[in-house]
Amino acid sequence: MQRTADAADHSAGQSAKRHAQTQFEKWALSYDRSWLNEMVFFPAVRICQESILRWQADRADRPFRMLDVGCGTGTLLSLMAREPGAERLFGLDYAKEMTRRAADKFAGSPHAEKLQMLNGDAERLPLCDGAVDIVTCCNSFHHYPHQATAVCEFGRVLRPGGILVLIDAFRDNVIGWIVYDVGVAKIEKHVHHASWSAVRQMALGAGFADVAQRKSGVFAPLLVTVARR
Ligand SMILES: C[S@@+](CC[C@H](N)C(=O)[O-])C[C@H]1O[C@@H](n2cnc3c(N)ncnc32)[C@H](O)[C@@H]1O
Repeated sequence: MQRTADAADHSAGQSAKRHAQTQFEKWALSYDRSWLNEMVFFPAVRICQESILRWQADRADRPFRMLDVGCGTGTLLSLMAREPGAERLFGLDYAKEMTRRAADKFAGSPHAEKLQMLNGDAERLPLCDGAVDIVTCCNSFHHYPHQATAVCEFGRVLRPGGILVLIDAFRDNVIGWIVYDVGVAKIEKHVHHASWSAVRQMALGAGFADVAQRKSGVFAPLLVTVARR
């Protein structure tokens, strides 16, 4: 009985991942100039960057290693690579075209030697334990069929004291529910916008501490979660 349930869960998960992959393979070339990127995704990237810079300021700009999960075309990492403390920056994406697009952008960057793209799954990160100081995940989490597994992976690759900045849809008020659980879910399908408390529980369950959460924005509200490993 349990085996059948596990097999069904695995198969549903694979189908959700294939769906996201197909969607983003097609979108990769036009993603950076799309209105959705400008209106929703890029503001989240900026919030993520600001959260990291605040954390960096508290630790006197010491060198850092970072992983951006579901990084798309690598916008956040391109911004972070300019920071003097940026030592090694990894981007990971499930869609091969996104990975290629980000790798092309990185190759043309003046900070190319710090940047590396990986093609892979948020639920099975190809880095060793404690490999990075910062894990970020912006606008991508709702595509993961096993979100708690992904959060455990974020914790595994972070060194103790490192931070996670996770930004995704805020669906705990009427506007957020209509925009994400009704609108986006109908268009994108196979997505799950985790509630404020569910994200908090996942972070605590994965061993994170000092979990700070806030809502940002009104018409496409975001849930910003910052936690310490
Ligand atoms: C809306 S884009 C966000 C890209 C970037 N983080 C940003 O904010 O501009 C979502 C990204 O998540 C990636 N993604 C979806 N499922 C994934 C998974 N299981 N593992 C890694 N990346 C995934 C998609 O391929 C896509 O590039």
